[in-house]
This record gives sequence, structure tokens and C-alpha cells, in this order.
Amino acid sequence: MIETDHFVRFERVGSVTDTARGLLAEVETELLRVDLVAHDVVRVKMSRGGAFDESPTFAVCIDPMVGPVEFTVHRDDERVRVVTSAMVVSLWLDPFRLDVHRTDGTPVVETAADEQGRYWAYATLNDTFTLRRRCRHEDAIFGLGEKGGRHNRKGRDFTMWNTDVLSPDAAGEFTAGKEPGDPRGDRTSVDFDPFYVTVPFLYHQSYPTGTMSGSFLDNGYRGEYELSPREEYRVTFAGGQYTEYIFAGPDMPAILTQYTALTGRAELPPVWSLGYHQCRWFAYTQDAVEEIGRRHRDAEIPCDALWLDIDYMDGYRVFTWDHERFPDPPGMLQRLDDQGFRVITIIDPGVKWDPGYPVFDQGRERDVFCRTEGGDTYIGQVWPGNTAFPDFVTQEAREWWGELNAAHVRSGLAGIWNDMNEPATGSIPPRAMRFGRGGHPHERYHNQYALLMAMGTHQGLVEAMPELRTFILSRAGFAGIQRYAANWMGDNLSRWDHLRMSIAMASGFGVSGQPFVGADIGGFAGGSNAELFTRWMQYGVLTPFCRNHSMMGNVDQYAWAFGDLVQDIVREALRLRYRLMPYIYSAFARASETGEPVQRPLVFDHQYDGTVRDLDDQYLFGTDLLVAPVTEPAATSRQVYLPEGDWYDWYDGSFVGGRGFVVAPTPMDRIPLYARGGAVVPMWPEAPPSTAGYHPEVVELHLFVPSTDGEHVSRLTEDDGLTTASPGGACHRTTFTLTRDGSTVRLEAQVEGRGYPEFRRTAFHLHVHGATPGQVELDGVDLDGVEVTAGDDGAFALPVAARPFTAVFGV
Ligand code: GLC
Repeated sequence: MIETDHFVRFERVGSVTDTARGLLAEVETELLRVDLVAHDVVRVKMSRGGAFDESPTFAVCIDPMVGPVEFTVHRDDERVRVVTSAMVVSLWLDPFRLDVHRTDGTPVVETAADEQGRYWAYATLNDTFTLRRRCRHEDAIFGLGEKGGRHNRKGRDFTMWNTDVLSPDAAGEFTAGKEPGDPRGDRTSVDFDPFYVTVPFLYHQSYPTGTMSGSFLDNGYRGEYELSPREEYRVTFAGGQYTEYIFAGPDMPAILTQYTALTGRAELPPVWSLGYHQCRWFAYTQDAVEEIGRRHRDAEIPCDALWLDIDYMDGYRVFTWDHERFPDPPGMLQRLDDQGFRVITIIDPGVKWDPGYPVFDQGRERDVFCRTEGGDTYIGQVWPGNTAFPDFVTQEAREWWGELNAAHVRSGLAGIWNDMNEPATGSIPPRAMRFGRGGHPHERYHNQYALLMAMGTHQGLVEAMPELRTFILSRAGFAGIQRYAANWMGDNLSRWDHLRMSIAMASGFGVSGQPFVGADIGGFAGGSNAELFTRWMQYGVLTPFCRNHSMMGNVDQYAWAFGDLVQDIVREALRLRYRLMPYIYSAFARASETGEPVQRPLVFDHQYDGTVRDLDDQYLFGTDLLVAPVTEPAATSRQVYLPEGDWYDWYDGSFVGGRGFVVAPTPMDRIPLYARGGAVVPMWPEAPPSTAGYHPEVVELHLFVPSTDGEHVSRLTEDDGLTTASPGGACHRTTFTLTRDGSTVRLEAQVEGRGYPEFRRTAFHLHVHGATPGQVELDGVDLDGVEVTAGDDGAFALPVAARPFTAVFGV
């Protein structure tokens, strides 16, 4: 527990005045501002020294105060209330506390009192501030981005401090002092905290109603979320000001949409970045890289990207090549491109301290490196030894970095991989690293370093190649990182518990605004083995970011590394991913519009079903596929919960039903996968070797007949997969509305967008699961079933390219 005995609690409110968006109040020696963002979102700020920090972090990327809000203010002796159509914000005067309720009286946030009945709405000591909230023992808490352990965070304490987990230097302070046997004392434990990414945003779910509220603390300093007390939670930040966005909910998807309206949404990624990525920390030569590419093609293992880790560089100098190992990078990149491979290289922020190395010299000349308090260039320890760190807090450093990255990518690369950006400084502590030309202490920007690095990189790529979508992968991050980069989960271990942990970790990321996530498939540190690798690949192909990566010195972990049997299974798994590409891509398109996750915990779509909140070993992939990975060795079956609705076994098409547990067999060649009744799942008719240039003439529509009457909406986004023309309308966006009415099923398609040159599709092939329609009518005309592939029990060709249609059949 954080010691708060000596904190100064703010106890009394003085004068309260109305403002255009809420209230301004005197509280003890400071000012408190209540600003309505929307009828169900409010921002609360406390000044320091009477002044407000209007842009506490780089997380919020819009002016939140522009939308219209209607509200009234009501005063009585005890409190001032700000009332909207959705909520009541109560500022209690003496003692001071701040509560928010929905208009039906249910709590959104309530200030907690201690055993002496003293309220802790805000207390401060030497720049630190703390607040306490009521949270009943049986409630749940979700979110907080990348955290280990269960997705329901209630019952544990978390630190907000971006950390290079496997480094004993960085992780030491968090493992120190733990009792022997406490898993948190072991940085390889799935209960270790903190991880690489900080997102101070949580959902509080009330039990048993299932309603949710949201809280985003817009503060980048080191923070503590103490969620272990029975009837409250406490939030403490070591600096900065108190700025909180409170979301009344009560629905999780709506809260996430509002949170991502503030902090931004992931852009539509290039389609190749949703393919399979082969990565490994290894001192490759150019020939060896090309050989890996060939081997994927020869073995017919779909793959879109090959990655180069730190050894492609000349002595770990960023933006250079080791010309002995890579005599002809442009030639290599061109030959790989001819085979449909993109190449991504790692770029760490640490610039080797090396007078004469142009990047280092330039950084010094332009004065864009971080300084110490005394004005020296800060030095840390990364792969090249002594390194300087770009001061990404300044526009100049971000621009410089953006130019370097743009030039690097333009040489034929597809994207950038940012690592060690917590920032990791090895055996030299990071605290002497200051920002803004030495003007700000390390603590203020530590957690935002990766966000700012990605911001500079993104800006550079966009300016140099405005017509192309960008791809950046980042290890660390802060709230808002989704605007610029995908995240992988850092250095995991080749262990079953780490496979399992990544499911809940993806859930945390997903509901915290970051949809583009994945763990190192097969595990990074430690040797993988045939069974673990197989199970991880089967699951990894059904996660947003699908990359096989492992550490230097490990056993090989390529798709073929564990023999033919494993290779065959892995190939089939990857083929499933590639065939599902239209579905996956459409889920990303949706994420870019609403902020919703691609890999989503069941609680996201089924929050009022009390069974799902603690289910951490299964998830929804997109809205309509339910995935239950195998998370232990020698499993021949596993339990799976199917929520409300109808579910179909993906493999044999059998109807399973919903709202209950089933025991699913888990033979080595597959993991349990179900499709939601009512869904229309678009698929490519085959798995191409890579997405490069693939624009099929047919897209399959797998329609899963619902057992009861109702309406279901599914989506398909088709575009060139590469350029920024699509969000501007160069696409076909089809919305399918499936309606069952007794024994009639109707599928209506609406189409938006003006199309794109590469569009080749001339037909959909309709595969109906759960019924055998004798006849399908397309816009009133009878169609004949077609044999699409051998053994297919009859698909119907709908000869429509991009136009609205209605298909009807009886069941
Ligand atoms: C870090 C990264 C890992 C990478 C290695 C070498 O440990 O997390 O992915 O392979 O550095 O660059």
C-alpha cells in the first residue's frame, strides 16, 4: 500500500462558479474544474499553484470541449450538481467529495471514505496526489492496457512505469523486496508488473448489474493503481496534475468509442501487415534471409513479411547496414519483393556514442539528444554500448527522426520495428535523462517516450509517402499509441503459461484502445518445442498481429523446424488465417472507425452475462468467431463457454447452441473455433502465398443460419490494401443484414464507396451453414447451386460485383 498518512487531504470547497462547460470551484488552496465533454463524459481537473496544465500528456489528440452539451446546475447547502440527460455530477462542499451517478441513480464513480469516515477525493504531498474510489469487493475492473495475470484486475496492485521486463536492471526495483515464492518477484512470471506499456484507463463493472463506468487518468508520471483493497481502489501519481475523464457508460463498447475519440484510433493497416510475419533475432546474412523466403514458398507456407533484428546493422548503429553480411540490400529487397515478401527492420532509439557516425554527429549538431540536468548529453547502455537518446519531446527531434526513418523505409523497406523504447537504458539508470532540452525531469515523459518516438516516425513516413499507409511496431507505449503503431507483448517465454497470459493481455490492450496486438508466437526466450509451437501457431493465426519471433541462441522456431507433421498443421493454420483475411481486414476497418478491439474478451460483447467476466482462456476474434486456444500440454479436450446466441463448430459445421459450457475435443490438428449464428463471414477462396497483388474474382460468404428470428449485421471492406485512398472512399464497403423470419432467411447487402482500380471480384459464393437451401433467389431470380470445390456441399454463386442485392432462401 502506498503510505498516505502525511498527505494533505482536501476537505472543503469554497466558492463555486458556473462555467460554459460546468463548474470552477475553490478547493482548499487550489482550483477544481468540472468540464463536460459530452452528456455522459466529464473531465475533472485540479490545479497546482492555482494553474491548470491544459495538455498534461500527448494522449488526447483532439480538443475534447468542442461538442455541444446541454446541462443544468443545481445548488443546495450540501452540494452543487451538474445534471445532463445521462448523469449527475455531485460536488459535495463539506466534506469535499466528487461523485458521478447515472440519472437512474446507479453509481459511476463515488469517493471512498476511510475507517474514520474521512473522504479521499484528492490528497497531495510534494507533487504526488492520490484519490480513493468505492469499489465493492464483488465488482470487476478491466483495462489498464498491457498487464499480466487475469484480465479482471480487481484484487491486485499495478504500477504504471514502462519497463524492459527481462532486464534485471530495469525490473530489479519491482522484483526487490518481494517475499520468497511471490511470483511478482520473478520477472519471468506471468504475474510480474509493470510491463512495457502504460495505459491509465480502466473500466469498473458493478456486480451483479453488469453496468460499467470508465476512468482515464491523463497523467504520464509513474502511477500506482491499488485494486487490492476490498471495498475501494486507490490511484496515486507521483507528479503532474490530476486530470481525469470519467465515462458514465454503462456499456463497454460505447465507453471505448468515447475513449478512442479522445486518444485516437488505429488507422486502417496495410493488408500485408495482417499476414504472417517471420522474425528471429539472429545474425543473418543476406543469402540466409533469401533462403528463409524461398523455404516458405517451397513449403507453401503463406508469409508476407521477413524481419531483420539488430544484427543487420553495422555495429548496432541505427540506420546503417552491415555491408559484409548484407552486400546488396536493394537487390535483396527487390528479389524478396518479387516473391511477395516485405522486409521490416528494427530501429531502437539508442544512437551509438560514436563521433564520426553521421547519425550521432547530426544529433549533436541539431541538439536533439536528451540532456542531463547539468547539460551533458545523457548516456545510457544499449546494444552498441554507450548511446545517446533522441529528445522526442521536442518537435525538432521528432522531425529529425521522422526524416531518418522515411529515408530508411524508402530504400525498400515496408515498415519499422521500434524496440527498447521504454526507454531501456541497461545498467545506467534512466532518471538522469531529461527532456525538452533539459527542461523536464525524466519522470514526466518516461511513459510517453515510445508514444513520441512513434509519433515522429509516423509523421516522417506520412510526409515522405503520403499515399501509403504506415506500419510501425512498438514494444512500449502510452495511451494513444494505437494512433501510430501496433504493439507486440515484448519478451515472453516459450512456456504454456506465457501462451495463456497473452490472451488476457490482448484483452487488456483491446479494451484500452489498442486493437493491433500480438505476442511472439512460439515464445521469445527459452526453447520452444513441437507441441507448444503447434498450439501457439494455431492460436496465433487467430490474433491481430501474427508474428513468429524468438531469441538468439534458441532452437529454430521456423514453421518447418519441428518436422513435417508440425509443418503440415502450421501450414493449415496459416491457410485458415489467409482465407479469413477479408474477415480480419474488415474487423480492422471497423476498429479504425469505432476503436473496438479485433481480439476481444467475451465481456466486451456480453458484459451482462455474469459468466464471462473471468474467462481468460478464450476470446472473440472479430465479432463473430470464438476462439478457445489450447493452453496446456497433452490436452485432448477443453471446456469452452459459448455465450448467448447460436454457435456453429467451425470444422464440421454442427450447430452447438449458446449460453452454456461445452467440452470440445482438441486433436493436435486444430483448436476449438466457433462461428456465431447470424454471421456472414467473408473468406478468400484460397490461401495465396502472400497478400501481395492478390485481388480475387470470388469472395466466399459463409452464412451461419440463426436458429431464431432476428437481425444480424456483418461487414466486408475491400480496397487496394495499401494506400490511403481507401478511407477517403476508394473502396467497397458492404454491409450485410441477415434477417431470419420463420423459415425464410434474407440477406441484404448495401454497398458504399467508389471502388478502386485493383478490384477484380465478379461474384460472391454463398455457403450456407446450418440449413440446406434447395433454392436461393437473388433479387427475385432463382439461382442454381454450384460445386465450388470438391466435396463442397453446394455453394451458390451470386454474380454481383459491387452493388446492393437481396438473396432469399427457405430453411
Ligand atoms: C529485445 C526485443 C526482442 C529483440 C531483441 C534484440 O529483447 O524485445 O524482440 O529480438 O531485443 O533486438
